Amino acid sequence: MSKLHADYYADSMHQIDTPLVRNELIAEDTYVLRVEAPEIAQQVVPGQFVMIRLSDTDAPLIGRALAVYAILNDESGHAKWLELVYLKKGTMTSALATSPLGRVVTLWGPLGNGFANRPCDHLIMVAGGIGQTPMLLMGQEAKGNQSFGKPTRTSGWGQEVELIYGARRKSLLACVDEFDKAGFNVTLCTDDGSIGRQQLVPDVLSERLAEIPADKKVRVVTCGPEIMMEKVAEICKEKSVDCQVSMETPMACGIGICFSCVAQVKQDGPEQWDYKRTCVEGPIFDADQICW
Ligand SMILES: Cc1cc2nc3c(=O)[nH]c(=O)nc-3n(C[C@H](O)[C@H](O)[C@H](O)COP(=O)(O)OP(=O)(O)OC[C@H]3O[C@@H](n4cnc5c(N)ncnc54)[C@H](O)[C@@H]3O)c2cc1C
Ligand code: FES
Repeated sequence: MSKLHADYYADSMHQIDTPLVRNELIAEDTYVLRVEAPEIAQQVVPGQFVMIRLSDTDAPLIGRALAVYAILNDESGHAKWLELVYLKKGTMTSALATSPLGRVVTLWGPLGNGFANRPCDHLIMVAGGIGQTPMLLMGQEAKGNQSFGKPTRTSGWGQEVELIYGARRKSLLACVDEFDKAGFNVTLCTDDGSIGRQQLVPDVLSERLAEIPADKKVRVVTCGPEIMMEKVAEICKEKSVDCQVSMETPMACGIGICFSCVAQVKQDGPEQWDYKRTCVEGPIFDADQICW
C-alpha cells in the first residue's frame, strides 16, 4: 500500500521578501530575474521550485510556481542568489516583466521533491518550450560543476550530460550559452527549422537512445508540454530507460494545502490510481507513475 503523505513536505521552506536585482529580457518574451535569497538558495536541489508573488499588490492574489534556474555563490562560495527564468504569458509573468529593479517580491521555497540523485553513465535532459528551466542545475550536479542541497547531495555522478532542447523558433530558445558553458552536449530543435534540427525532441531522443551502447546506464529527465513528456515517457518505457518527468500543473499554495495541483498517479494495483499533489509529492515523478 502506498503511503498517504509525501516524503518531502515544505518542511525546510523559507518565506522572504526580497528586491529584484536583475530582471532582463534574454529571448523572445523570456526573462531572467535574480534575487538575493541565501536561505532558499542553500537548500535548493535540482528540479525544485519556488512560489512568487509581488509584495506590493494583491494582483494577482495567488502566487505562481517557477523552477529554480540557477544558484549563484558569493565570494566565499556560499549560495546567495537565485535566478528564475520565466516566459511572459499571463497576469503574473506580464507584471514581473515590467517590474523595475528594486521591486520587492515574496518568495517561498524551496518546494517539491526535486530530481532523484541517481548515478548514470549518460544523462539525457529533454526540454520543450520553457521546460529548460530546471535543467541547468540538474546538468551541473550530474557533471560535478556545482553541488546543491543541505545536506549537500552527491555531484559528479553522470559521465556524459546531454540536453535536447526544442522550441517553436530560434528566438524563443533561452539560456543556450549557459548550457554550452556548463559543458552539456546540446542539440537544439525548432518547429520552423530556424536553428538546429527541424525535428521534435522526442524523435531526437529516440535516435540518441539507439546510438548509445547498450552497456551504458542511461537516465532521462524531461520538462515541458505534457504531450511532449508523454511521448518521452513512452519512448523510455519501450527501451526500459529510467525516466523522470517534471509536471507543471497550475498551483495555488505550493505547500500541499489547497489540492489545486493534483495529477493522476498510478497506485499499487493494475488500473489503480489516485490524485497526488504535484507541489509536495512532485513535481518530479517517475514517468511510468503518471496516468497520461
Ligand atoms: C513546478 C512548476 C514550475 C514552473 N516553472 C516555470 C518556469 O521556470 N518558468 C516559467 O515561465 N513558468 C514556469 N511554470 C509555469 C508558471 O507557473 C506559469 O506559467 C505561470 O503560472 C504563468 O503565470 P501568469 O500569471 O503569467 O499566467 P496566468 O495569468 O496564470 O495564465 C496562464 C495561462 O492561462 C491563460 N489564461 C489565463 N487566464 C485565462 C482565462 N481567464 N481564460 C483562458 N485562459 C486564460 C493564459 O493565456 C496563459 O496561457 C512552472 C509551473 C510549475 C507548476
Ligand atoms: S498547490 Fe496547493 S496543494 Fe499543491
